[in-house]
Amino acid sequence: MTGGAPCTDRLFVLPSPEELARAAAGRIWGIVRERIAALARAGKEAPRIRVALSGGETPRHALEILSQEPYRVSFPWEAVHFYQVDERWVPPGEPLSNRRMLREALLSRAPVPSTNFHPVDTSLPGPEEGARRYEELLRSEFPAPAGGYPRFDAILLGIGKDGHTASLFPGAPDTASPGSWVTAVTGGEPRLPRVTLTLPVLCAAARVIFLASGREKAEALRGVLSGERRLPASRVVPARGTVTFLADAQAAALAMRKGRGSR
Ligand code: 6PG
Repeated sequence: MTGGAPCTDRLFVLPSPEELARAAAGRIWGIVRERIAALARAGKEAPRIRVALSGGETPRHALEILSQEPYRVSFPWEAVHFYQVDERWVPPGEPLSNRRMLREALLSRAPVPSTNFHPVDTSLPGPEEGARRYEELLRSEFPAPAGGYPRFDAILLGIGKDGHTASLFPGAPDTASPGSWVTAVTGGEPRLPRVTLTLPVLCAAARVIFLASGREKAEALRGVLSGERRLPASRVVPARGTVTFLADAQAAALAMRKGRGSR
């Protein structure tokens, strides 16, 4: 995995998981609105905003909130395309499927055009093929990107107790071939084959938002904010973008205690 320049990250602490979810929905909305305005100023008539969403449980409520008022009517659903940060190699109806969570929380509730969701296809013969096809899809969406990697307008990430993010796990060998955008890995709890965006893709995003909720994330968040290099989440350092950490009070407890409110 590659390293990076000093972080331009910021930690925002919300009192409760509910307020964290509200803040996350508001942040996504803010990024999209800002981007739409910038594209309008540049004379783009049919803007296309690209947002990659993580799985796990933390984003669920934020996405549910995004599908409700006031966002339901004001969010530019036609313009926003959603992608997966990572997927567990299970059928899409399984409880462990990230696609299922995204469907339950957002896609089945909000008026997202079906053509605006771009899932990892886990019906393919295996995760390597799934990764290859997902990369192909992304390459058709982001032809010849500057810097060699796609620039998502926003990527929503979680943090595992062990400091993983996306499906990039601490201590896991970096098996991604140089320059690749998507790779197949095995890891996590439960340990499963997975398909994930690679670290350089996360680092190429315009805006990265990390969400952390609950006491069980406190040690990992402290380590990530301290820049502990062994933790994959701390290596997400956008070269031409920003990182924001949104955490509830329990997740931020150790980071705050050490006097690392923000930097
Ligand atoms: C996954 C994820 C993963 C997730 C973290 C946090 O497939 O597991 O996308 O990176 O963001 O594991 O998961 P929770 O939000 O469930 O704690």
